Amino acid sequence: MNKGKILIVDDEKLLRWSLEQNFKKQGYGVITAATGKEGLDKYKEELPDLTLLDIHLPDITGLEVLEKIKEIDPNAIVVLITAYGDVQTAVKAIKAGSYDFVEKPFNMDKLNILVSKALETVSLKKEVTELKSRLSSQYGFDSIIGESPQMLKVFDMIKKVAASDASTVLIQGESGTGKDLVARVIHYQSRRADKPFMEVNCTALPEALIESELFGYEKGAFTDAKTMKKGLFELADGGSIFLDEIGDMKLSTQAKLLKVIEGKNFKRIGGVKDIVVDVRIIAATNKDLQEEVRAGNFREDLFFRLKVIPIYLPPLRERGNDIVLLANYFIDKFNKEFRKNVKGLSKEVEKIFLEYPWPGNVRELKNIIERIMILENAEYIKPEHLPSEFTLDDYSNIRKIDTINLEIPPGGIDIEDIERGLIEKALEITQGNQTRAAKLLNLSRDALRYRMQKFGLLGRKN
Ligand SMILES: Nc1ncnc2c1ncn2[C@@H]1O[C@H](COP(=O)(O)OP(=O)(O)O)[C@@H](O)[C@H]1O
Ligand SMILES: [Mg+2]
Repeated sequence: MNKGKILIVDDEKLLRWSLEQNFKKQGYGVITAATGKEGLDKYKEELPDLTLLDIHLPDITGLEVLEKIKEIDPNAIVVLITAYGDVQTAVKAIKAGSYDFVEKPFNMDKLNILVSKALETVSLKKEVTELKSRLSSQYGFDSIIGESPQMLKVFDMIKKVAASDASTVLIQGESGTGKDLVARVIHYQSRRADKPFMEVNCTALPEALIESELFGYEKGAFTDAKTMKKGLFELADGGSIFLDEIGDMKLSTQAKLLKVIEGKNFKRIGGVKDIVVDVRIIAATNKDLQEEVRAGNFREDLFFRLKVIPIYLPPLRERGNDIVLLANYFIDKFNKEFRKNVKGLSKEVEKIFLEYPWPGNVRELKNIIERIMILENAEYIKPEHLPSEFTLDDYSNIRKIDTINLEIPPGGIDIEDIERGLIEKALEITQGNQTRAAKLLNLSRDALRYRMQKFGLLGRKN
């Protein structure tokens, strides 16, 4: 493995040599220079990951070399070697942007630890930057497909929201309409993009866990709280927090959330200190929140706070030709993924798709295309490739549940037994793959794991 490249600039030949041996032995790439000028030249040529720089050089001072290096790369990691007790120079060095300094004569073990820590930081930083840029291109505005007037309105909203950084966003729409996707696009196209996007599914977690998840806790707040833990609000500072299925949040948690939105502050569980954060809240729900307010399940004041910026994602069946557009988009995507060459929908399927009510919306469309493209080897997707519910004469009774054979015994049944049964079934089908089982049940992996734990299915061989 490439452990990184170190440039050693020192005029003492013996020291240079022993440093070189020391680092080479550990698998680093090593370049050396005896003067400031040579050091700078080698720096430009090799762009090392870390520079070990003696402050006393025969031509120019180490501090000057440091400044020049920083001009080339402001993020360069430079460790200065100073004379023993020369605190003033050390302070100057740190001010000029050196990562750290070591005093001569130095302890090699300590230097090794310092160097490996510094390089670890570099590689982590690189990884994070790379990931971030990948995410922000993955969640560009053009990752949301649609040209229908309703979707154009949605785009308009999303663009304004992303640019404005205004507070809270509420995304409403049936399951599978793209709420997750829109939430991510808003975050990754806002000025918050390089800060965290934290998400929590309010259905997945029981109330007590939601609070510790959101607000964190102090050491000793409860029996299991062996150490302090930060909550998602703290971790998301500067970024966004995505509260999925907010319609399922309990009233008492809603009250706490409202306080956070109003005051921008909160306390960790068991804590006394107010914690202030700058977090944009993006909430989503497939419930009609207005209706939930009327029914007394959702706080009206919170509803008004959340819907400052409302985004409504229309059901797929109302998006007209977007259905075909999306189908072709997914065909393209899976062509690449599965190395297939499906050309598109047949005319008949296009017609069926435009009439079908899509109870599972875009998710259903995506899953169906994926399934057909795994199973079939045809040029065009044809009616005979479609599951039976697509070829009914009358769609008025279509509900997903009809495809599962449900019977309630005369003595009644515990709904949890059904839930458990479905989870076991999904795990069986996916041979214990939790990510795929969760997908089958339209649950997040956390939500699935929570239920598995509840039913004692975790840690069991499936
Ligand atoms: N307009 C769209 N363009 C492209 N992909 C979409 C669109 N809407 C949804 N999807 C995809 O469909 C799937 C379901 O969307 P998701 O955002 O999870 O829906 P929801 O959160 O509303 O249930 C995801 O894979 C998502 O990327
Ligand atoms: Mg979702």
